[in-house]
Amino acid sequence: MALLSLVLLSLLPCLCLSNFLPDLLGTDRRPPGDGSTSEHLENAGLKHIRAALQSRKVHNVTGSVAPPRKWNKIADRSSRDPLASYGAGIVYIMQLNIGTPGQRISLILDTGSYALLVNPDCNQAADPNACRTYGYYDTEQSSTAQGPDGWFSGQFGTGFMQGVWYNDMVYVGQDYLPLPNSRVGVSQLSEYIWAGVLGVSYGRAWNTGYQTILDLLVKEQYIEVPIFSLGVGYQGGGSPSDIIFGGVDRKKFRGYLEPLEIYPYPEDQMAHYGQVGYRVNMTSLGITPPGQNEVILTDDRFERNVLIDSGSTYTYLAADLVIAIAEALHATLDDNGVYRVPCESRNLDGSVNFGFNFWNIVIRVNYADFIVDFDSYCALGVQSLDEPDDTWVLGTSFIRAAYLVFDQLNNAVWVAQYLPCGEGGITDLTLDAGRELWLEVTGLC
Ligand SMILES: *[C@@H]1O[C@H](CO)[C@@H](O)[C@H](O)[C@H]1NC(C)=O
Ligand SMILES: *[C@@H]1O[C@H](CO)[C@@H](O)[C@H](O)[C@H]1NC(C)=O
Repeated sequence: MALLSLVLLSLLPCLCLSNFLPDLLGTDRRPPGDGSTSEHLENAGLKHIRAALQSRKVHNVTGSVAPPRKWNKIADRSSRDPLASYGAGIVYIMQLNIGTPGQRISLILDTGSYALLVNPDCNQAADPNACRTYGYYDTEQSSTAQGPDGWFSGQFGTGFMQGVWYNDMVYVGQDYLPLPNSRVGVSQLSEYIWAGVLGVSYGRAWNTGYQTILDLLVKEQYIEVPIFSLGVGYQGGGSPSDIIFGGVDRKKFRGYLEPLEIYPYPEDQMAHYGQVGYRVNMTSLGITPPGQNEVILTDDRFERNVLIDSGSTYTYLAADLVIAIAEALHATLDDNGVYRVPCESRNLDGSVNFGFNFWNIVIRVNYADFIVDFDSYCALGVQSLDEPDDTWVLGTSFIRAAYLVFDQLNNAVWVAQYLPCGEGGITDLTLDAGRELWLEVTGLC
């Protein structure tokens, strides 16, 4: 084991996950005893920041509820024009205070984008009523607001927003820790967009010329590394939904976290897409109908890049796979391009299974979480992509079943099956996070 740790220690910080992971994936990496390894994690006096998330249902929106893909840039095409027209969506909302005194704003937590944007025009929003409940940031009412300082404009899927940048205090997490000089995009004109967005993808490292909220949390030393953990929890509540910046909640999973390397590598994503996101390879898709054996829908060599996007209600896959899932669940397509299923199907003991790293891990999404409950009807949590070359997306219909650690230090997303078992399991991550996540940060459930 000592040898293994040394290898990891020397390699992880240089972002070389790809070079050694294949060798290690088959080996036993269980440390000699869980208790012995956690000591040095607890004595450093470091912090994490925990923020609660709330799930909200919105109406008259497309399945991709937060499609901002090209902030700061005018996109010449819509990155993800959804097949579905207007339906409903589910998002996970996080609250921030912006300005002095703090103004409470609710934002969509979006792993698919990286900017903090507020104040969409609710009269032009897809769901005006929901929009009006999310708060409004009034720069005039903040003694610390600085700006305007440049403008932004973008076409975001079905939506459009343009506005100006301000710098102001932002207060984050349960303890409202202050972050001076946070960059806030304040909308002046928008269409369709119905909530502000807190993007938590790569910032200064790749996508922005300024420090994003996640970057500032590190800069202010609230957390040591640009890593956060996301457990949105089961649909319908019953388990806490939160994000932990700088830490991992070990009482949200069992066993080891599996590292999924960011792929394409950041520099290649930059060249190819003009930005870097949480893209990883998925290596199998299967379905386990109630009382039956699993049916694998992909072949042995299947390997497909996917974007992990908490801003998307639906998972987007190729049409043939979606049709296979829809048939297994006896779903029918409605006029809006949404697959409807009876809500009772949520009670069936079936799952849709997403595999990674060639069977090292399979995340099983129970029908209860995969079928989205919009109260008046239920929809399958998956939709077909319009074009075969479009980016595949794992939205919240996948994320509900996973505990995910988004790791910008080692360029990986670590994943385990979501399994909550109470409070008090948070461990802070340090600059040694690669080794910690690999060997020590095991689930306690
Ligand atoms: C639904 O959204 C569209 C597009 O934003 C808008 O034109 C329409 O008025 C909305 N309908 C309702 C009932 O809110
Ligand atoms: C992802 O999949 C592509 C296509 O099969 C493959 O070339 C690449 O090596 C994979 N990357 C990782 C990190 O597994």
